[in-house]
Amino acid sequence: MARALSILVGTMTGTADLVAQEVEASLGQRGIAASVIQMDRLDEQVFAQGGLFLICTSTYGQGDVPDNARDFVERLEAIRPDLSAVHFGLVALGDRTYATTYCHGGLKFDTLLSELGARRVGEMFLHDASEGTMAEDEAVAWVDGWVEDAMAASDAT
Ligand SMILES: Cc1cc2nc3c(=O)[nH]c(=O)nc-3n(C[C@H](O)[C@H](O)[C@H](O)COP(=O)(O)O)c2cc1C
Repeated sequence: MARALSILVGTMTGTADLVAQEVEASLGQRGIAASVIQMDRLDEQVFAQGGLFLICTSTYGQGDVPDNARDFVERLEAIRPDLSAVHFGLVALGDRTYATTYCHGGLKFDTLLSELGARRVGEMFLHDASEGTMAEDEAVAWVDGWVEDAMAASDAT
């Protein structure tokens, strides 16, 4: 079974990065190598070898992706690479106070990657900042259940 996961981080004020770091540390304790990559300056090449990815992103503005993810999204929308060798999971950070755009940054990635042929494993994990719970704790618990299925799905293709 492949034991590698790339966590792609879209963040404005660092919460998604903290989530990614905690997930990386937790998986490391289980012998699963994860690498955290900020979306700044990423392009479609990150997906060139296929594999397993965890998108970890917040939402800003009118339901937009964070600034450090904007160029990456625009590039994927323009180039439209074939991502059929990609499996992914999604950790979307948001706030239900923004009722009409709740977690839309994560939803945007889900729609785009799926359109490009990537396959999501499992349901998205949504974190609501208005609840006052710690996104990193909840995400680590969620990834704990997600990762084995995700690796099995990724290996099967
Ligand atoms: C100015 C601003 C705009 C936001 N807009 C949205 C939004 O439209 N939808 C949403 O679900 N959350 C929204 N949020 C909440 C953030 O996505 C949430 O607090 C998240 O945990 C921040 O993660 P980050 O520190 O990684 O950027 C907004 C937060 C701020 C400060």
